[in-house]
Amino acid sequence: MIDVKNLVKVFTAKKGVLGHDAIEAVSHMSFSIPGGGALSLIGESGSGKTTVGRILAGLEVPTSGDIWIQRVNVMTLPPAERRTFLRQVQLIQQDPYQALNPARTIEQSLEDPLKVIARERGKNGAWIQSRVHEVLLRVGMDPGSVLNKYPHMLSGGQRQRIVIARALTVEPKVLVADEAVSMIDVSLRLGVLKLLKDLRQEFGISLFFITHDVASARYVGEDGQLFVIYKGQVVESGPTDEIISQPHHPYTQALLSAVPVLKGLEDPGPDRFIPLRGNDQEQVPDTACIYEPRCPFAQAKCQKERPVLQGAGHAYACHFPVVRRVVATMK
Ligand SMILES: Nc1ncnc2c1ncn2[C@@H]1O[C@H](COP(=O)(O)OP(=O)(O)O)[C@@H](O)[C@H]1O
Ligand SMILES: [Mg+2]
Repeated sequence: MIDVKNLVKVFTAKKGVLGHDAIEAVSHMSFSIPGGGALSLIGESGSGKTTVGRILAGLEVPTSGDIWIQRVNVMTLPPAERRTFLRQVQLIQQDPYQALNPARTIEQSLEDPLKVIARERGKNGAWIQSRVHEVLLRVGMDPGSVLNKYPHMLSGGQRQRIVIARALTVEPKVLVADEAVSMIDVSLRLGVLKLLKDLRQEFGISLFFITHDVASARYVGEDGQLFVIYKGQVVESGPTDEIISQPHHPYTQALLSAVPVLKGLEDPGPDRFIPLRGNDQEQVPDTACIYEPRCPFAQAKCQKERPVLQGAGHAYACHFPVVRRVVATMK
């Protein structure tokens, strides 16, 4: 399981000779994912999703906040210990080709992490071989036909399965999947999503699923939580099915409205609207709602006071929350 409290990440970008410009990429984010549970993070590009994922995987250091994995506070561990400990968190990125060494066979790529573990546990080469076979079978690949192949000889979907197999070699407690199927052929996506979903249950893995696609968040984690983020801030969070059926925040409604309707098969939700105005580059003062410049329902108060995330279970940061039915339904 994983618990995150008040996570903040500020990047300072050099801005010519005038000094520094700070971007708060992640703003006071808190969540917990039980073993076997799922949390999906949705939001458009630049909203801070990858930054959260990289922090969880130990690739980025947060500006402040705490992270507990299996009830150990990662932030209090000395750096060397932290690295070993964070092996329990494995990151599956967008591009499986970049994640694999093109000059090494699939067998070699899978053996590398296992050699480290074998040394630590006093296991031999036969153990490594059997683990390689085990993880390949688990991700639905035939060891006999892929062990000697190189990454370029596989399809995108197969490559992502290999990346997942490699993550499984270290028996992770948390998988962070960052747009893990967006570069894979549409026809192969569902299989990889099903694999991620099944691994939750089978190994009690906590899945942190980053996406800009509501449908895949729903598929891998309908029984889990959904966090909608806009410019680093959580604007709505709660049980996935509840947020999809009863979205309260206009930004969540805009994201849900963007899902295309299957013509002839589905009816658009009655409240579907042209979602966004303005642009996301606009600077918003701390005293205004972060979403005010783009919100079609903004009122005077939204410019004067920033709403806080409120509500137990299902929470939203909006002064004027109204449920709108924007999701298409089957005819
Ligand atoms: N290493 C970095 N240095 C400076 N700014 C960064 C860095 N990484 C990300 N950012 C900024 O942080 C914000 C969030 O980025 P990111 O986490 O990649 O968003 P997403 O994954 O949702 O597209 C963006 O404004 C991005 O430009
Ligand atoms: Mg990203």
